[in-house]
Amino acid sequence: MINVKSEAEILSMKRAGKIVSEVLKLIKENIKEGITTKELDQLAEDYIIKSGGIPSFKGLYGYPATICASINDEVVHGIPGLRKLRDGDIISIDVGACVDGLHADAARTFAVGKISPLAEQLIKVTEKSFFEGIKYAVAGRRLGDISYNIQKYVESRGFSVVRDLVGHGIGRKFHESPQVPNFGKAGVGIRLIKNMTLAVEPMVNVGRYEVYQESDGWTFKTLDGSLSAHYENTIVIKDGQPEIITL
Ligand code: MF3
Ligand code: CO
Repeated sequence: MINVKSEAEILSMKRAGKIVSEVLKLIKENIKEGITTKELDQLAEDYIIKSGGIPSFKGLYGYPATICASINDEVVHGIPGLRKLRDGDIISIDVGACVDGLHADAARTFAVGKISPLAEQLIKVTEKSFFEGIKYAVAGRRLGDISYNIQKYVESRGFSVVRDLVGHGIGRKFHESPQVPNFGKAGVGIRLIKNMTLAVEPMVNVGRYEVYQESDGWTFKTLDGSLSAHYENTIVIKDGQPEIITL
């Protein structure tokens, strides 16, 4: 079942979205060689709580932290720990916050110090693919229009989109229907309706799209060891262009 949100629910989601975007800015400012992902996690948790929110991820399906921190060939769901960031790494940070029982979710990939031109390009293409996709996130269009246009843009730049992990509806539950793949056919899937809320989140690999899960039960990595980037926002479907509540 796909639910449409009330105006009051959307207001709460916007408050959660504001906290999420501020956390991502705080993390960006603190990313430097030598800091551990656990320290970044602590910053995020403290900030969310201080702001009147609740970390969405902590305890979700048993996940142990506030952020996911995924480095280089790690795609998503990296667990914060004592690993120190190194010059030239790229790190994807994913974070969710909950206000009044409503969630918002977003992710960015950041550079640590000086990164390779290829890594720079990967980050840019991943971000742009989100914006290419959500041009079609308009009431009356179909879900596949978003998916297709993300994939088309990414592949036109020579990269690949992960198939095994997808975006999702979001609201009172963190993961709601529908699934929002970053690949597929235009003109198929459910019809988008005003005030549906979606987390659109392309995960893009430099090499092949296949991923595998580490023995920690969480971290996904690229099968071929190539770099991966992630860009996500929570959006509200409108009659015109969607509202992005985590920018
Ligand atoms: N943003 C991630 C997702 O949509 C959230 C992972 S939360 C976790 O899948 F707790 F399950 F890791
Ligand atoms: Co998500």
